[in-house]
Amino acid sequence: MASDMIGEAPASPGTLVSAVTVVAPGTPGARLVILGKQGAGKGTQAVRLSRHYVVPHIATGDTFRAAIRSGSEFGILAKRYLDAGELVPDEVVIGVVKERLTHPDASHRGFVLDGFPRTVGQAEALETILEPLNLDLVISLEVPTAAVLTRLASRRVCSSCGANYSVPDNPPKVPGICDVCGGDVVQRDDDTEAAIRRRLELYERETAPLVSWYSQRSLLATIDGTGPLDEVTDRIVTEIDRRKLGAV
Ligand code: AP5
Ligand code: MG
Repeated sequence: MASDMIGEAPASPGTLVSAVTVVAPGTPGARLVILGKQGAGKGTQAVRLSRHYVVPHIATGDTFRAAIRSGSEFGILAKRYLDAGELVPDEVVIGVVKERLTHPDASHRGFVLDGFPRTVGQAEALETILEPLNLDLVISLEVPTAAVLTRLASRRVCSSCGANYSVPDNPPKVPGICDVCGGDVVQRDDDTEAAIRRRLELYERETAPLVSWYSQRSLLATIDGTGPLDEVTDRIVTEIDRRKLGAV
């Protein structure tokens, strides 16, 4: 697991936008949602799926962090929610995602949604936004709480490009400096004990119900999110491709 976690930069550094440039003929697109508790590996796997299916990685948390870095009024508002581990109000998040999904890359080839939806209200809004199309699959990454707490405590991120590291196993080559872009490698502001506790509480209350919500719509695949990154990716891709080939 160790080496491929180093310098794992996001397909869309710090923002919602990832330009789709060259798509090999026959490369299938996909409309995917990745669910999972905090630290389950949503962002890590979404980057890989985005590259595999050549679709944009749309991560609401990354969008809010980019707004915070920009110092905009929207960012100042978002920071209050993120630092406390609270959810940004549905109407704000839905507006952001709705706008992003109209961009040609997402509307033509699909997307990997990471961190959205995370309430039933957001899932209902997504269904309406996508009509008459639907999602291909919702992946629920399952990782025990004890394991996500360990992962979050050791996570470090590049404040410029969002590349992920963890200490002490996979630190940047030069302490505190991103291997990918030279930016500062720091702990996320919401990876504090209090904010993590609140984020996990909100996951259980607001987001976990989406597992049965999507299961009732035959859109859910539950995937074991533990083990080496490549193995987790293989499990997800195998399941997506199996469903898209109409094997179920
Ligand atoms: P967001 O940025 O989405 O954070 P989150 O949901 O708390 O999830 P994380 O990013 O912490 O975890 P992850 O599952 O992506 O794990 P990662 O891949 O990094 O949201 C932040 C905030 O924004 C929210 O709290 C809220 O305020 C707001 N927000 C966002 N969306 C919203 C919405 N829809 N509605 C309302 N508010 C919203 O992995 C974690 C660590 O584990 C990393 O160090 C990684 O290297 C490591 N790791 C990954 N996989 C493995 C593995 N297989 N083995 C070992 N280590 C691994
Ligand atoms: Mg994430």
